[in-house]
Amino acid sequence: MKLWIMGAKGFLGAALSKLCEEKGIDFVGTGREEADITNLEHLKNFSFQGITHIINCAAFTDVDLAEKNPEQAFLVNATGAKNAGLIAQEMGVKIIHISTDYVFDGALARPYTESDPCTPIDNVYARSKLQGEKNLLEVCPSACIIRSSWLFGKGGKNFISSIFQKMQEAPLLKVISNQRGRPTFVNDLAHVILAMLSYSGIYHFANGGEVSRFEIAREIYKMAQTLNIPLVCREIIPVLSDTFPTPAKRPSYSVLDTTKIEQVLNASPREWTNALNEYLCAIKTY
Ligand SMILES: NC(=O)c1ccc[n+]([C@@H]2O[C@H](COP(=O)([O-])OP(=O)(O)OC[C@H]3O[C@@H](n4cnc5c(N)ncnc54)[C@H](OP(=O)(O)O)[C@@H]3O)[C@@H](O)[C@H]2O)c1
Repeated sequence: MKLWIMGAKGFLGAALSKLCEEKGIDFVGTGREEADITNLEHLKNFSFQGITHIINCAAFTDVDLAEKNPEQAFLVNATGAKNAGLIAQEMGVKIIHISTDYVFDGALARPYTESDPCTPIDNVYARSKLQGEKNLLEVCPSACIIRSSWLFGKGGKNFISSIFQKMQEAPLLKVISNQRGRPTFVNDLAHVILAMLSYSGIYHFANGGEVSRFEIAREIYKMAQTLNIPLVCREIIPVLSDTFPTPAKRPSYSVLDTTKIEQVLNASPREWTNALNEYLCAIKTY
């Protein structure tokens, strides 16, 4: 087995590359400079020997910037996904592609399953990622698509790290209380990708437990105190999302139902608080 990890320098791509190194799994990791997924001819120049799987972690992920650069977002997330699928077909290898909870608009009052219709919230990132899923399945029906949500971990720009950072700088924090989701530890997602290499179809994966962003902040605060991590923050105030207007709309409820992947893997994802504890313990030692 040999993996080709596209977008290997990104948050998830780097975590997956590190996991492959630890597990002794043979892989080639490429970034935009080596293998630009928007350029099919560019991808065709890569004739890596012995590749058995492509893992597409490459994406245009800046949700707000995508509003200003819709062409680029669609080029990477929609055309890029198609190109990755075409290359997988040409090489005769399996492809695993990563997608997002944003393919749902958040109007449901229960967790989203894989068979729920996708009506993305009206933002460019969400629409481009859904188009990417469709494009990929059209050229590569045996692809495996893993949708995840609210990634956190070491090394990436993400909500949990930036809240933790702010707690070390400011005495008072205002955090949005009317957006609910399921946090996902990037290392746990990397493990799941490796476990899903032989599957096809769409699957949801996130850590256990649904929370608001405010509840996440409160949990980080509590846990940091237990772990004796010094914080400047003394108070966290819940606010509504319109306190912090952003160029791109966010779904108010984007909880993924993970029953399907749990049945396939015969295991439940660990609770997000458990993963948060591991993450905080790891960064405490730095
Ligand atoms: N982060 C989250 O909370 C979250 C939640 C749900 C789903 N996801 C999905 O998870 C996947 C990984 O996300 P991530 O958080 O790891 O994002 P990330 O840190 O932004 O990584 C994406 C990587 O893709 C690369 N890339 C961009 N355009 C490219 C191109 N044309 N060709 C090749 N590589 C290109 C980027 O390189 P540059 O830095 O050079 O642009 C970056 O290294 C994405 O599909 C994302 O939609 C993420």
